[in-house]
Amino acid sequence: MSCRIAVFGTGYLGATHAACMAALGHEVLGVDVDVAKLAKLEAGEVPFFEPGLEGVLKSSLESGRLRFTSSYEEAADFADIHFIGVGTPQRRGDFGADLSHVDAVIEKLAPLIRKPSVIFGKSTVPVGTARRLGRRVRELAPVGEHAEVAWNPEFLREGFAVQDTLHPDRLVLGLDPSAPGRAEEVAREIYAKLIDEGIPFLVMDLATAELVKTAANAFLATKISFINAMAEVCEAADADVAVLADAIGRDERIGRRFLKAGVGFGGGCLPKDIRAFMSRAGELGADQALTFLREVDNINMRRRSRMVEMTREFVEGRLLGARVAVLGAAFKPDSDDVRDSPALNIAGQIQLQGASVSVFDPKAMENSKKIFPTLTYAESAIAACTGADVILVLTEWAEFRKLLPGDLEDVVRRTKIIDGRNCLDARTWRDAGWDYWGMGRR
Ligand code: UDX
Repeated sequence: MSCRIAVFGTGYLGATHAACMAALGHEVLGVDVDVAKLAKLEAGEVPFFEPGLEGVLKSSLESGRLRFTSSYEEAADFADIHFIGVGTPQRRGDFGADLSHVDAVIEKLAPLIRKPSVIFGKSTVPVGTARRLGRRVRELAPVGEHAEVAWNPEFLREGFAVQDTLHPDRLVLGLDPSAPGRAEEVAREIYAKLIDEGIPFLVMDLATAELVKTAANAFLATKISFINAMAEVCEAADADVAVLADAIGRDERIGRRFLKAGVGFGGGCLPKDIRAFMSRAGELGADQALTFLREVDNINMRRRSRMVEMTREFVEGRLLGARVAVLGAAFKPDSDDVRDSPALNIAGQIQLQGASVSVFDPKAMENSKKIFPTLTYAESAIAACTGADVILVLTEWAEFRKLLPGDLEDVVRRTKIIDGRNCLDARTWRDAGWDYWGMGRR
């Protein structure tokens, strides 16, 4: 059955969700305050790089089932199902999450709800938020008790957003036991196709659903920092962390995924989510439970300084005047997102210490220029490496993984390369006479 859905926020999460819900056969209205973004989406253009999303967006627009608007009145008239997909960035000056966008949606939308409706939250929020929002909605909405809030956290990864939305590992739904209503029935209708395919549909209380999301991200961040801590030990002991990860990853209880040592995690989610989680645990009086996440964060940030130090060592202790090529600026491949990107952060630190840094990324150049306008941006990987004393591979784009020593040896000043993502074949580079360093595998 087709549902009438409004999706508030048209960033990575909201735009993907809106397009995918229309692809499932629902009638969808995407809502945002940014009219420039809406104009792009209406024209079938995705305002960021996400493989596969443009196809889904265009076919959803052509089917007539997907439209966009900046009008909350229109959204409240049109839909009786609302999804909140706005951002919850880190607050300026502390670790907590900034909920102003989520609150703004509720404050504007709730007073317009005149028919029984369900609001599903998708944004990552501190535990306890959904319950508070539920109370506020019942207070503000003309339909009172017939406006419900449920939580349906989103686990999508950038680069796999469409796949993760249409074929998630699980669907999670949090309900408010103190305000029973139709949310579960409605969610089963929305996701009927996915549930019929056998995707697990897990129903729980609101607080647990909020925590499932933060716990999942905390676990992933911990896994990455664990292997990066092992990389530090491997460097000290002259061992190889990639071989170690292959060997421990064979144990099914451990698993090989998310055990790639390198310059650490970044992006718009993991770093701010573990900080917001610590901050919330503190408010709840459970701060001791999460003090280990501070160490997870420290290990992660140390990878960036470690990379700067390795680069300094590689140019005989003097970054001043050295020419450094940086391949990769996005926080991970197949994304143009540079939020808290280790690659861009390292490039910036090295430049601030006097080196001249030339950066190339297949998709993230525009976004990088906005944040670090003072770096030099090259037209291609080869151009970035021309005249370089050392090359740093900081994002494992396929095009960098394919590079061979012969592609670069005629353009560089010195044949030195540091593989910040352990994504190159060490032997190929060493056999060709290059000085090659990986992370945790010197
Ligand atoms: C993450 C979660 O995976 C997703 O479930 C959640 O909804 C949002 O946050 P995303 O930020 O898109 O998704 O990226 P992810 O693929 O998790 O990678 C995060 C960072 O960790 C990247 O910087 C990546 O390079 C790094 N990483 C990942 C490693 O350094 N090593 C690994 O083994 C895996």
